[in-house]
Amino acid sequence: MGLESFTRNDPIFADESVLRDNYRPTELIERDAELSAYQSALRPVINGAPPKNIFIYGQTGVGKTLATRLVSDRLLEDQRQYDDLEIKIVSLNCKSVNSSYQIAVNLVNTFREPSDYIPSTGYPPSRIYQMLWDHLNALGASHLLVILDEIDSIGTNDDILYELPRANDNEHVDDTYIGVIGISNDFTFRDNLSARVKDSLCDEELHFPPYDANNLRHILERRAEKAFREGVLEEGVIPLCAARAANESGSARMALQLLYKAGDLARQRDAVSVCEAFVDEARQLLEEGKIKDELARLPVHSKVTLRALTNLHKAGETPVKRRDIYALYLKLCDEIGSDPVTDRTIHDRISQLRQKGFVEADERNDGISGGSYYLYDLRIIPEMVDEALDLQ
Ligand SMILES: Nc1ncnc2c1ncn2[C@@H]1O[C@H](COP(=O)(O)OP(=O)(O)OP(=O)(O)O)[C@@H](O)[C@H]1O
Ligand SMILES: [Mg+2]
Repeated sequence: MGLESFTRNDPIFADESVLRDNYRPTELIERDAELSAYQSALRPVINGAPPKNIFIYGQTGVGKTLATRLVSDRLLEDQRQYDDLEIKIVSLNCKSVNSSYQIAVNLVNTFREPSDYIPSTGYPPSRIYQMLWDHLNALGASHLLVILDEIDSIGTNDDILYELPRANDNEHVDDTYIGVIGISNDFTFRDNLSARVKDSLCDEELHFPPYDANNLRHILERRAEKAFREGVLEEGVIPLCAARAANESGSARMALQLLYKAGDLARQRDAVSVCEAFVDEARQLLEEGKIKDELARLPVHSKVTLRALTNLHKAGETPVKRRDIYALYLKLCDEIGSDPVTDRTIHDRISQLRQKGFVEADERNDGISGGSYYLYDLRIIPEMVDEALDLQ
C-alpha cells in the first residue's frame, strides 16, 4: 500500500495533549483537604514568619507534584499584596540527581548563568555548601522555598536534607528564611532518614492517599471534556478506566494513560467511538510496555540469566535446576564475550528475577537422602523476553 498522505483529520480527539503527562491542569480535583493542609503549612510564610519544612508523601500519580505547583504558583501570586514579602521558590527534580552533593551543585547552578555553572564533580562538599550559602545570602529575598521533588533518589547520604532546613539555625544564611519542601513516593524513604534529618525536614507531613474510582472518574471526566470530540466516548469507558486504575494503583497518571491509549486505539482502528473493549486492550498494552521497560533495564548478567532460562523454556526443558541455567548462562557469556559471574551471584540474580515476577520457582523435596531444591521456569511469555532483550 505504501505511504499514506498525512491529512489533518481526527474524529476521536479534539486535543489529545490534554491527556499527556506533561499537560499542566490549572486545578487539582478531589484534593480539597490536602490543598487546605498544604496551604496551612505554608501560612507562616505569607505571615512573614519562618517557614515550616514540609514533607509530602504518597504513591505515584496521586497529585503531589501538581499540588505543589499549584500551591506555589498561588503563593507567589498572593505575596504581591504584601510589601514586606519577597518570596522566591526554587524547584528541583532529584530523579536524575542522585546524591546530596549533586543536589547542592544543581542548586548552586540555579543561581548562576550557564556560562558560570560549576561542574558536577571536583569540588569538596564543604566548598559547594559555602557557594550555596553565598548565593542564598546574596538573594535579598524574605523567604526562599526549596522544593526537592522525588527526593528518594538521594541515596544514603542525606546531608543536604539536614543542611538546608537548618541553614538559618546554623547561621549559614541570615537575612532570608529558608524552607524545604521534600516530596517522595517511597514509603520506606522517610523511615530510613537519619534521625537528625527527620527532625529538621518533617515539621509538617502531608500524606496524599491513592484515589478511589470516584475521584478518578471526576478527574477523567474533566480532562475528557477537552480531549475528546463530543459524543465519541461510550458511556462505560471513563468508569472502566477509573475502576481499573483505582484497583491497581489509585494513580491518576495511570487512569489518564489508559483513557489516552484507549482513544488512540480507536483512532488507529478507524472506529467512530471509543468502547470498553479498547480500554481492556489498552490496559494489556500498557502492562506489557511496563514489563518490557523493566526487562530492558535489567543489569546485563540478569539479562543473560533470563535469556538462558528463556531458551531452556523454548526447548521444552523447563522446569530446570539452577545448575542447568548456570551452564547455559556460561555458554551465552562465552558467545557474547562477557566475563561470567559466579554461581552464587546468579543465585541472587534469579531471586531478584523472581521478585519482579519474571521467574517462578517450585520447591521440590527428594526425601531424606536428596534434600530440597528449586526448579525454575519462566513466568512471562517468551516473546516478551525476545522483544525486550537485545541479546538473543
Ligand atoms: N487531582 C487531580 N486533578 C487533576 N489531575 C490530576 C490530579 N492528580 C493527578 N493528576 C494528574 O495525574 C498525573 C500525575 O500527577 P502528579 O505528577 O502530580 O503525581 P505525583 O504524585 O507527583 O506522582 P509521582 O510520585 O510519580 O511523581 C499528572 O498528569 C496530573 O496532571
Ligand atoms: Mg511527582
